[in-house]
Amino acid sequence: MAEFSHLPVMAREVVELLLPVPAGLIVDCTLGGGGHAGLLLDARPDCRLLGIDRDGVALAAAQSHLERFGDRVEFIHSEFGRLRDAVGPREEPVVAVLMDLGVSSPQLDHPERGFSYRYDVALDMRMDSRQSLTAAVVVNEYDEAELASLIARYGEERFARRVAHAIVAARPLHTTGELVAVVTKAIPAATRRTGGHPAKRTFQAIRMEVNRELPNLADGLDESVHLLGPGGRVLVMAYHSLEDRMVKQKMRAWADDGRSDHAVAKMPVVLGRQPLTRLLTRKALRPTADELAANPRSESVRLRASERVSPS
Ligand SMILES: C[S@@+](CC[C@H](N)C(=O)[O-])C[C@H]1O[C@@H](n2cnc3c(N)ncnc32)[C@H](O)[C@@H]1O
Repeated sequence: MAEFSHLPVMAREVVELLLPVPAGLIVDCTLGGGGHAGLLLDARPDCRLLGIDRDGVALAAAQSHLERFGDRVEFIHSEFGRLRDAVGPREEPVVAVLMDLGVSSPQLDHPERGFSYRYDVALDMRMDSRQSLTAAVVVNEYDEAELASLIARYGEERFARRVAHAIVAARPLHTTGELVAVVTKAIPAATRRTGGHPAKRTFQAIRMEVNRELPNLADGLDESVHLLGPGGRVLVMAYHSLEDRMVKQKMRAWADDGRSDHAVAKMPVVLGRQPLTRLLTRKALRPTADELAANPRSESVRLRASERVSPS
């Protein structure tokens, strides 16, 4: 098995936020290599943990990292967009839901996964290698308007229309290296010199599309809060402004009366509804300067947390 090395982000803050939850089941929706999971199992000997990841390589690494916890930990190869199904019916209460979004360091660093613009490999970018949508499909089969729209929205790329036009003109594209060359040429030279790697934003956008990252987050958040009993907590670490905005809006809606939460909005309005949660973080928490120095990948993270207050 490939070595899986990923420093858990804001680990101290995550553990502290989960010390007060009642005893029960912690659901780690983004198990990765099991970094946060191991710390939580150590800090909460009265809890069990269910680890979910859509990446089979990550799950295998976590299984080996967490072996010493025996049957206190369970593993599920699934996506958190279907959280309720993944957790299934259980006797023990769900007391925490943790989401540490985005890609892991090994996903970025293992060239064959196709996530990085630094290597020249087949266009893939799937976190779950069982799915059929790959970066090659997005790049070669989406129409120009769809491509421009997702590169603008998910990549926040100013030159999205130029990039989309260049991609369509250069089809078929087979490798990340070819994509990097096309995107780089489409970005004006002056911006190329200043804005970081010219292909970074387009790669991020295609990855978010391939893995349906925003729709999954919306579904996972909607389901998370309804799995918890009073005192249970949801913690989310987001690395992208669109994701963080969604987390902020959902958490505010839950703390209000839940009515603008998508899942609750579909139910009949009941007068005098109670808030579902209270906000534990009015403003998102950010990593300390020490953590930023030790782990540059924590740079963009925003941690938000809510506590369930009313019964289901
Ligand atoms: C930032 S890493 C998590 C690292 C982990 N907290 C640790 O300390 O090792 C994110 C992980 O979430 C997984 N992931 C991303 N989106 C997912 C989804 N919708 N469902 C399940 N897993 C997902 C990725 O495959 C990746 O392994």
